Amino acid sequence: MNNESSIIVKIEKSGNRFNAWDVNGIKWTSHIGTGTRKRAYEQGMALERRVNKSGNYFWWKVPMENFGVSESPIPSVNEISNPESIIEIPSEHEEVLAFIHNSMSLKPRGLMMKELKWKYLVRSAVRGKNIMMTGAAGCGKTMAAKALVNSLNRPDFYFNLGATQDPRGSLIGNTHFEDGKGTYFSESLFVKAISTPNAVILLDELSRAHPDAWNILMTVLDYGQRYLRLDEKDGQNTIKVAEGVTFIATANIGNEYTSTRQLDKALMDRFTIVEMDLLTSEEENELLSYMFPNVDSQVINNVASIAGITRVESNSETARIPSGISTRTTVELCGLLYDGFSLIEAAEVCIYPQYDNTGGVDSERTFVKQIVQKFCDDGSSDDLFNEEEVTEASNAF
Ligand SMILES: Nc1ncnc2c1ncn2[C@@H]1O[C@H](COP(=O)(O)OP(=O)(O)OP(=O)(O)O)[C@@H](O)[C@H]1O
Ligand SMILES: [Mg+2]
Repeated sequence: MNNESSIIVKIEKSGNRFNAWDVNGIKWTSHIGTGTRKRAYEQGMALERRVNKSGNYFWWKVPMENFGVSESPIPSVNEISNPESIIEIPSEHEEVLAFIHNSMSLKPRGLMMKELKWKYLVRSAVRGKNIMMTGAAGCGKTMAAKALVNSLNRPDFYFNLGATQDPRGSLIGNTHFEDGKGTYFSESLFVKAISTPNAVILLDELSRAHPDAWNILMTVLDYGQRYLRLDEKDGQNTIKVAEGVTFIATANIGNEYTSTRQLDKALMDRFTIVEMDLLTSEEENELLSYMFPNVDSQVINNVASIAGITRVESNSETARIPSGISTRTTVELCGLLYDGFSLIEAAEVCIYPQYDNTGGVDSERTFVKQIVQKFCDDGSSDDLFNEEEVTEASNAF
């Protein structure tokens, strides 16, 4: 069956609005008439998208049990554009207050984040702060930053600074030479971004950026300066950051990645920090159950518990593993479960390679395996270690 024709949404009431969500947390509100949504909600029905004879879509009421019976492949919550939730940012204080405190309706269902943190994020954006999302790898920093950008009806620009090899070229521009034309300067997209009034500029993976990029950004981010120097030798040649521009950066701070450079203190000081928390087992369970309604709930519960245990362990003083299993990994893992892999198999390919295998039975990998094993004891599971490992480990003594 064509995936396109098998979208089923559930209606949820939010304030005076009836929002339509599919199982992947994608919002369909703007595609469905208000009356249709309201009626479906009142009758406790789900809506299925169908195609009529002329090839147009229409929405048909179906029993609520059909919701979650998705034909789609691995659910993805990466598409977090919420056309319906785009609204103007108010300027009066009372309106600003209402905007911030009603902003939970702007958060995509598929993004798990504490209400206070989300509101703080929205508030910081509305107040024009430079925001830095920090937190462990794969905990939703980029996702939250993108969701915020999508919620604000402002021109937005995305820069992945972790991938930039040439900070000057990406942030300022390049000088070119052409026969007949001579040398000329072409400005970067970043120059255009900061010159756009009210732009929201996402600086993803700032912590992985080249230190030259940080130096270039120093004056741009400083509330007292707010300009970009085009040429370091010539102090006059600068571009002003336009009115109302907001920066949202993401950074892996103090985590295990060596490619993450220690961010400069002066640069950090220019940001309001919004820390993404690691999800608790309950939150992880809620997220995964929501994303994968077709995967056995007990197995999902086990995945959430395994992740939770590794996170607690990695934070303890006597930690035997350097980091816990991330939400990125649990989502990938559940994708495998959805495709018919067992938990043992999924863990084998998704989790274990992330942990060091040296040291045999004392290795990080063995430790994590033992945790996973505890949750796979259904009689059908393999032995704790395969033969090769047992031999390897016994040879070590
Ligand atoms: N809090 C969360 N809520 C919902 N999904 C999450 C969350 N955290 C992680 N995920 C899942 O993990 C994936 C990776 O998340 P994301 O890219 O936002 O992580 P990140 O913190 O930016 O990671 P990195 O440090 O590697 O840049 C998401 O696409 C999503 O599927
Ligand atoms: Mg990221």
